[in-house]
Amino acid sequence: MPLRVMITGGSRGIGRAIALRFARAGAHVAVAARNSTELDAVVKEIDAAGGKGRAQQMNVADHGTVEAGVFRSVEFLGGAIDLLVNCAGVFDVKPLARMDLATWNRNIDVNLNGPFYVTLEALDALLAGHRPMIVNVASIAARRGFAGNAAYCASKWGLRGFSEAIRLDLAPQGVRVTTLYPGPTDTTIFDKVPGDWDRSKMQKPEAAAEAVWQAYHAPEGAPIDDVDVPPLT
Ligand SMILES: NC(=O)c1ccc[n+]([C@@H]2O[C@H](COP(=O)([O-])OP(=O)(O)OC[C@H]3O[C@@H](n4cnc5c(N)ncnc54)[C@H](OP(=O)(O)O)[C@@H]3O)[C@@H](O)[C@H]2O)c1
Repeated sequence: MPLRVMITGGSRGIGRAIALRFARAGAHVAVAARNSTELDAVVKEIDAAGGKGRAQQMNVADHGTVEAGVFRSVEFLGGAIDLLVNCAGVFDVKPLARMDLATWNRNIDVNLNGPFYVTLEALDALLAGHRPMIVNVASIAARRGFAGNAAYCASKWGLRGFSEAIRLDLAPQGVRVTTLYPGPTDTTIFDKVPGDWDRSKMQKPEAAAEAVWQAYHAPEGAPIDDVDVPPLT
């Protein structure tokens, strides 16, 4: 039976790489994001890689679109989710003295409230899944502070707390919950963020995708742990 995977933020960057990693093994993958043109392009790539893709337009910060989008994704996946990846995210760099409410709220809404909404709506389908797992894509900014990152760090530390707490809630029901801590990774997230980024020295999104693949396929009974992203060998 093909793996049934749902990935928010699956249209670009790390989410897209995860989608293609699982597609290469024949998975059925629902990818969710706001931009439908980019989603459609990834679905074509998923199908070409040997999987079966579905584009699901969704704003993870808007509970109404999450409810509808998860419902349709679960329909596409045949009623169950084996792997949910909460990957949709935004990144703003703004020192506190220049912080505004819109920036703060955007980071909290997308990076923290989003995974909560999606997980809540997907829970029944996960409970029906095979060796179900939730991967919450945090960041090294969930482990330490970075200048100019108050909103981003707060959202990712919040996500880390959410992830560790629901790991305990869901363990008795057999749902594994893991938190992924990527370091700087060469994706479009840096396109609009001012800064002296040397993207040639960053991780490739495929390294994060491989880490998620390994986490899902950990042997039965292996401890569920946080996942760092080692370089690809
Ligand atoms: N790149 C890094 O260095 C790095 C490091 C650590 C952690 N991360 C985390 O990894 C995740 C993926 O980042 P990335 O680097 O792959 O970024 P990216 O290339 O900018 O991709 C972000 C993805 O999230 C989607 N997204 C953004 N806002 C959304 C919303 N409100 N609703 C639904 N989808 C939304 C985007 O699609 P739309 O814009 O079309 O919605 C896109 O698919 C994020 O959570 C990020 O914080 C990244």
